[in-house]
Amino acid sequence: MIESLLFSPFQLRAVTFPNRIVIAPMQMYKSAPDGLATDWHFQHLAKYAIGGAGTVMTEGLIVDPIGRNTYGDLGIWSDQHVAPLRRITDFLHQQGVVAAAQLHHAGPKSSRQRPWEGLGPLGEAEAAKGEPPWQPVSSTDSSSVAGWHRPRAMSVAEIEALVAAYGASARRAVAAGFDAIDIHAAHGYLIHSFLSPVANQRNDQYGGDLQGRMRIALEIAASVRANLPDGTPLFFRLSCVDWRKDLDNRTDGWTIEDSFVLARELGARGVDLIDCSSGGIRAENSMMDYKKTRTKLKRGHQVPYAEAIRREAGIPTMAVGVILDGPQAEAILQAKQADLIAIGREALTDPHWGLHAAQALGVDPDWNKWPPSYGWWLQLRDAIGIEA
Ligand SMILES: Cc1cc2nc3c(=O)[nH]c(=O)nc-3n(C[C@H](O)[C@H](O)[C@H](O)COP(=O)(O)O)c2cc1C
Repeated sequence: MIESLLFSPFQLRAVTFPNRIVIAPMQMYKSAPDGLATDWHFQHLAKYAIGGAGTVMTEGLIVDPIGRNTYGDLGIWSDQHVAPLRRITDFLHQQGVVAAAQLHHAGPKSSRQRPWEGLGPLGEAEAAKGEPPWQPVSSTDSSSVAGWHRPRAMSVAEIEALVAAYGASARRAVAAGFDAIDIHAAHGYLIHSFLSPVANQRNDQYGGDLQGRMRIALEIAASVRANLPDGTPLFFRLSCVDWRKDLDNRTDGWTIEDSFVLARELGARGVDLIDCSSGGIRAENSMMDYKKTRTKLKRGHQVPYAEAIRREAGIPTMAVGVILDGPQAEAILQAKQADLIAIGREALTDPHWGLHAAQALGVDPDWNKWPPSYGWWLQLRDAIGIEA
């Protein structure tokens, strides 16, 4: 049997990731008022720490309240946010798991209803419940969807303040005990709204050509890096392509070639790994719209981006998106398509995803990777056997 890469360690800076499995960032929309983590977040993240993942990443932690996607988002914009997050990282560390935090600003997709409340822009009904809408900020003062809140273009002074806010948030994340940081620059949120030519219509130094559109991403990466200890790895989540075609079937959006350029520039600024997602530049206005615009999911559909960026930019990558089981994840690593594997929705259905992957790969035939409080009994039940 070939040695499992999924269950081999991976080193970035001073951090040894015990295996290659990362729980993907997943917003819960369940914060206490003002973005404070609650028992819900504790149990959500703690259960993955006993489920075989080497790294557990938080949902996007909001760096400035104007960048909240919904009133349920977790925050990292004030020192108050640190203590409840520390409770979570302490538990992850007790389980020998790497604690990663994602830093986030929803930009044009801010001031939104929670998904199960409609996913549309906040309005009068929410205002009556104490959750009034606010005007989002973006690269440009135009909305991609009719009926959406029209965002306001950020001034240069606001951009400079935001770059500093990312740095301050990184410092708080370190104080909260996180071992690795991921910057969310994907899915049509603020940083993506600057990167993509579909969204960014600015004509100052933060718009125009690729260099101008990348400027805010590079400044944010440098600001976060400057506020992290040297030993702390920094990830950067990109929408590697915009999935857009113009009438001649050429893309009018962000391309994989743009991602190669950005990944190299990020690497030069101390980013250690590109977290490879895609799409999202067009905001869905409702759940119906969401369902209508999506095609059927394909297993591992974003893996080719992780492979191409790893090869062309010479930087480690993380693959994410419809990676369903251990053998699929192992094959991605064996084919050198990525260095880490992020698991999202499949972990929602199976918090023990990593432990089951180890069994499927023959790495843990005797339940030894399970916490003994569970594994001892399961091993004994196997030894006794169950009548057919
Ligand atoms: C409930 C939920 C919340 C999510 N929240 C975030 C988030 O906060 N930040 C982010 O970058 N992606 C977020 N995503 C996207 C996931 O990180 C992941 O990229 C996506 O679900 C695809 O992986 P999967 O097929 O394994 O679920 C979220 C996904 C889900 C299902």
